This record gives sequence, structure tokens and C-alpha cells, in this order.
Amino acid sequence: MHFIRLVLVAVGAARLSLAVATSRSGLLQRADTQQSIYSASPPAPPAPEDITVIELPLPPVAPNNVIGSCTKVINSRGTGCIGKVTGLGSGNFLPDNKHVVASVIFTGAPAAPDPRSIYTGLQLIIVKADKTTFPNGDPWKCITCGMPPANQLGRVDLMDYPQAFSDGKRVLAGPQVIDCSPFQLSSKKCTPDVTHIYPIRWNTSPTGDGAGGSIRELRLHPEDNHLGFNSLAIGSDGSVSQAAYIGRFVFNKAPTIGTPLSARYDLSNVTALIDPQERAQIYVEGNELKINQSAIGIGELRGFSGSGQEVTYIGAPTESCNIDVYAIHLITGKIRRLTAHPEYVDPVDISPDDAWTAVMDTRGTGRQMWLSGMRGIPPIVDMVATAAISSTRNNGERRFFQPWLIDQYGDRGQYFGQQINGAGDGSPGSVNDPEWNGRADPKWSPDGTRIVYYQAQTVSPECGGINPLPCYNSTEPGGRQERMMMATLTSRKPCTRRAPVPFADVVPWGTPFVPGSTISSPRYIPGGNYTLRGQVSGTAMVEITGGADNTSIDTIAVTYFNYSDDGASILNGGERVTVTTPYGGQNEVDWFSDIVQTGATHGTKTTTPGGLHLSVNVFKNLAIFTGNLTTTLDGTVWYQPANGT
Ligand SMILES: *[C@@H]1O[C@H](CO)[C@@H](O)[C@H](O)[C@H]1NC(C)=O
Ligand SMILES: *[C@@H]1O[C@H](CO)[C@@H](O)[C@H](O)[C@H]1NC(C)=O
Ligand SMILES: *[C@@H]1O[C@H](CO)[C@@H](O)[C@H](O)[C@H]1NC(C)=O
Ligand SMILES: *[C@@H]1O[C@H](CO)[C@@H](O)[C@H](O)[C@H]1NC(C)=O
Ligand SMILES: *[C@@H]1O[C@H](CO)[C@@H](O)[C@H](O)[C@H]1NC(C)=O
Ligand SMILES: *[C@@H]1O[C@H](CO)[C@@H](O)[C@H](O)[C@H]1NC(C)=O
Ligand SMILES: *[C@@H]1O[C@H](CO)[C@@H](O)[C@H](O)[C@H]1NC(C)=O
Repeated sequence: MHFIRLVLVAVGAARLSLAVATSRSGLLQRADTQQSIYSASPPAPPAPEDITVIELPLPPVAPNNVIGSCTKVINSRGTGCIGKVTGLGSGNFLPDNKHVVASVIFTGAPAAPDPRSIYTGLQLIIVKADKTTFPNGDPWKCITCGMPPANQLGRVDLMDYPQAFSDGKRVLAGPQVIDCSPFQLSSKKCTPDVTHIYPIRWNTSPTGDGAGGSIRELRLHPEDNHLGFNSLAIGSDGSVSQAAYIGRFVFNKAPTIGTPLSARYDLSNVTALIDPQERAQIYVEGNELKINQSAIGIGELRGFSGSGQEVTYIGAPTESCNIDVYAIHLITGKIRRLTAHPEYVDPVDISPDDAWTAVMDTRGTGRQMWLSGMRGIPPIVDMVATAAISSTRNNGERRFFQPWLIDQYGDRGQYFGQQINGAGDGSPGSVNDPEWNGRADPKWSPDGTRIVYYQAQTVSPECGGINPLPCYNSTEPGGRQERMMMATLTSRKPCTRRAPVPFADVVPWGTPFVPGSTISSPRYIPGGNYTLRGQVSGTAMVEITGGADNTSIDTIAVTYFNYSDDGASILNGGERVTVTTPYGGQNEVDWFSDIVQTGATHGTKTTTPGGLHLSVNVFKNLAIFTGNLTTTLDGTVWYQPANGT
């Protein structure tokens, strides 16, 4: 097999977009648990607060994609239509707190020379969030429709994760910057003629030539001058790995080398968010396995904290099968575990004052509990199983995400945050309709009182038939299958956003990137028998069987003897997991589990005789199971989803 370190398939903006993340070295990480859930005295959890959710307006929907189907009957102002499948990617607020940026796919425009012909394809819009309209009467405005070709040299057809700069003039959208300088995007002076699109180039060539490296999942630092991004490397053997980077934007008005040879943003002073010494989260010392709670293990970069001092990311799990988000301080390398609930989380945004976290999480849906529900299992089998584990969170295109609000101290005790759209009757189209599932990213308003997010409706084949949810027609205008929502935290007073902390280009714990260099192969633990000592009691005997090629792990077996990391619950029994990856993204997993938990929680995690066979592709997220893996916690039984649901 190929040793896929930590493969996390993240939520893309578009229905088909995918993200695969791998952590660097050995991939297991215990976050600094001292600071969060196991902390001696975190403050008492906050009481639930009042939240109202409304939908934000979008352009009208054309009945189909035929040229001219966006008639004047549908849009009397002639400012375009989108499709039922909107291509929506909602982003953040402009600094005025009154507009939200989004990308959509316009469709049905009449042919040129009709002036309406410019409303076609993927475009950036800004949407009024205060129930007002632009002077023409529309509550949205297209920023990029009808730009002269000379203003958009090197434009690419990708505008995922649109993020406005705090100058109100520019938006990062996909690997490019949309710039209306010197005008505010919301100003009527910001017209297509004065708007520019500048591509972003990451030079990876020692000579400076070529198109540069491929960058994805871009996130803007709140001080506007730096970009966080990820870059995938797919090996010739089909293995997938990824590294996260931060670099400085340098506007290059007239480049003389590298492509495109037009005005662009170059990334300089790029640092890989990788420990240069590659100290792994799980490492070998003699015959023992040790877990380093502070080792750097960034899977996929997700953004920055409100003050800009921390990078958020999906990390290698702290507890087995439990995918969480973390924040690491750019200077000190201190790690915070932002979430701990056993369910899957990935999109995250920290509030401007750093005191709150908004996430998209499967918590509350029971989606992953059969696998991840038992707390306190050290993340040992995860060294081979994380890719498969994270891929069971979706049913193909159906995500199970809802937006949640968690305080800065994270999940603890019985506190698992507050569902942002929890109030509603659950009826078709209501704000908490389970058929409407979250996408990436939720975003805080600069004044800290609102969170904007977007959702997609569950459609066939992920509803109806054997699925738990029936199919029904969208109740949205025009039958739209995506929608943009805005939550207001009504008891909060608007605050003026404090200036973010500027980043001075140096990550003391990172690895400066040198063009032409390659990221070294992941380390893995060689085959053998090891002991892992519980932090409070007991041991785990770990048998690692290496792959024939000596560059991977095939099988991990763990046997627990009175093992406890917290002294509250104790593990006995064991697990054995074998993973092969026959081709790109495909994981074939054999899982045998018979773990008994006693103490504070009485639980079992067991497989049926013959074990569970799980077959899943990280690019499709459609798991097929043979046999069962079932987790029972204090009498509550959690089953895996039926095949195809
Ligand atoms: C950033 O890059 C520039 C240009 O290569 C260089 O002069 C400067 O020293 C770098 N800054 C840091 C902090 O490394
Ligand atoms: C654990 O990781 C931290 C952060 O990289 C490092 O400073 C420390 O030396 C590591 N400890 C061990 C025992 O490897
Ligand atoms: C959904 O809409 C289509 C066409 O608009 C209609 O034919 C169909 O009967 C509707 N289905 C349901 C379940 O209402
Ligand atoms: C682990 O120990 C068992 C029992 O001594 C032995 O059969 C097995 O070969 C060892 N495994 C490895 C990978 O060394
Ligand atoms: C595999 O690794 C072991 C231990 O480092 C080494 O002795 C052995 O020669 C390696 N085998 C191959 C095929 O590289
Ligand atoms: C098992 O661990 C618990 C604490 O986790 C300890 O109190 C108990 O003495 C241990 N039992 C044995 C047999 O070691
Ligand atoms: C697996 O679980 C399902 C319920 O989800 C049950 O119907 C089925 O009988 C179980 N299979 C085995 C082999 O226990």
C-alpha cells in the first residue's frame, strides 16, 4: 500500500471540488491538551444564546442553461440569472459589515451584443446583508461581469473561498485577486472597466520560470499582506500528500520571468508549516511508542485566527477516529485543540476577537459515532486509517455539516457548543432542515455579531430510495439547490474590529521554502512490536507490520491492558486494522475491533465475526461496508450507515 499519512478530504466550495490533506511526519498528533478539554480549570461553558437566521438574496434562477433562458420576465433589470445548481461559494463580509462576497455561476444569458450577455459563467458578486439594495434595485452586484479582457489577463475559472481584504477594495477568490482599487467594491464607481483580476503565482523554480506551483484552499491573513495555502503532491504511485504554507503577497506590475507575464501577485518569503526537524507526533524510543502532544502536525491549513496570530488547520487526530480542528500560534508554535466532539469537523472560522469558533461539523447527526464515539482511544490505528475514517463522513455529495458555535476553550464536559441554526421546525426548507447541509466556510462579520454560511440541498441519489431522507423539490426561489444564510447573535453588541497583529514573515518553527526544493517523504514507524504507556494507567501493546516496500505500514494491531490517559475511563481489548490503497484515493480496510471501556463510560467498540471490510475512495466518499462495526456507549448503540446512504 501507499502510506497515505493523514488524508482528510475537505469541503470544497463547489459540489465536485475536493480537498485532500495529508499531515507531514508520521501524522499523529496530540494537541496540547493541557489547554483545552483536560485543562484543570477552564471557565464554565457559556449559556446558549439567542440566534436568528435569515437567508440572503441571490440572483434569480433561470429555468435551464439555454442561451436566452434568463428572460426579462425572470430578471427585469437584465442583471443576470443563476441556475438551480448555483455554483455558490459564499465568503466573508466586507469591512462595512453590510455586504457579503460570493461566487456564483451565471447562466441563460442572451448572446452578445445583448448587454445582458455579460452575465454568464463563474463570477464574483457582492450581496447586501442589510436588506437594502444597490441603486438599480438589485440586492446583489456582479463585480467581475463584463470586465474588459485586458483587465483580466491570466484569469482562471475558479473562485472558491472568496475572501474580501480589509481594505474593502479587493477580494481573494480562487488563486487570484479581484481588485477594484482605488474604489470600494460596494461603491458605484467600482465598475467592470476599473476592476482587475490578478493571478497569484508561487514560484517553485530556482530560475523563476514556468507557471509556479499549484496552490489550493487559499486563506487570507486578516492583515491583508499574507496568504495561507496548501499544495498537493500526488506521487507516481498514486499516494497523496499535502503541505501547508504561508507567504507574503508582493504585487508585481510587470513581471519579466515566469508565467503569466502580466501583472500578478507573487508570493515571497514562503514558509512550509513543517517542523524542519520532523519531530513526529508518534515516535519510537527503544521498544516504546511515545506520543508528543506538542509536535507540529498540520494536515490542511484552514485559515487564521481573528487577530491573525494563529493558523487554523485540520490536524492528525488526538483521539482515535476523531477528526478535529486546531490552531497553532505562528510565533510560539503553541497548539490549541479547538474541537473535541467525536464527530467530524473541518471548516472553521475564529471570531475577530479570537474568543469564539464557528465550525461546520457532523456533530448531532450521529454520522460518525459508530466509528469515533468512544473517547480516549489513542490515535494509533489512525496512522493507516485516517483517510478511510474521514471519508465515511459524507454520503457522496451529501454532507452532514451544520454550523456550530463553540467558545475559545473548546468542547468540554457536557458542553459541545451551540448549533447556530438549531432553532426551527425542521420542515422542508426551514433553517434547520436536515436536508440542507453546510459547506465551507462559515465567516464572522468584522463586528462580531453575525456569521454567514451556505448550504446545499440533499438531492438524488443521496435522498429517496434506501436513504433516510426523502427527496422533495427545493422550496427556495426558482428551486435553487444552494442558499446563503446569515445568523445574527442578537444579544451581542457590535464591536469595532481591532487591527490584526501583522505577521513579520518568519515562522520560527516552520521551514523556509526554497524554490526547487521538494518536501521530503513522510516518516513512518518501522514494523515491530512496541509498548505505549497510558498517561494514568496500563499499557497498549502495538504491533506494526510494514509493507513489503519498506516505505509504508500495512497493519496496526493494538491491545489494551487497563489503559487510561485520563484516569476516568479504562480501555481493555484491542483493534487490528489493515489498509491497502490499490489506486488513487481508494482505501480497502479490514477492521477488527473488540474494545471494552469501563469507568466513567461503559462502552464497547466491536466488529461482527470476520470483521468490517470498508471500501471507500477519498475522492468520492461513498463507503461500502461488509460486516459491521458498532459502538455502544452507556446503552446507546451507534451503527454505521447502510451501504449507499
Ligand atoms: C523576505 O524576502 C525578501 C526578498 O527575498 C528578503 O529581502 C527579506 O529578507 C525576506 N524577509 C525575511 C524576514 O526573511
Ligand atoms: C515535541 O514537539 C515539540 C514541537 O516540535 C518539540 O519542541 C519537542 O522537542 C518534541 N519532543 C520530543 C520528545 O520529540
Ligand atoms: C418537483 O417539480 C417537478 C417539476 O417542477 C414536478 O414535476 C414534480 O412533481 C415535483 N415533485 C414533487 C415531489 O413535488
Ligand atoms: C511481534 O511479536 C510477536 C510475538 O512475539 C511476533 O510473532 C511478531 O512477529 C512480532 N511482530 C513484528 C512485526 O515484529
Ligand atoms: C527495510 O528496513 C529495514 C530496517 O531499517 C532494513 O534492515 C531492510 O534492509 C529494509 N528492506 C528493504 C527492502 O529496503
Ligand atoms: C487500572 O487502572 C486504574 C486507574 O486507571 C487503577 O486504579 C487500577 O489499579 C489499575 N488496575 C490494575 C490491575 O493495574
Ligand atoms: C449489521 O447491522 C445491521 C443494522 O445496522 C443489522 O441489520 C445487521 O444484521 C448487522 N449484521 C451483522 C452481520 O450483524
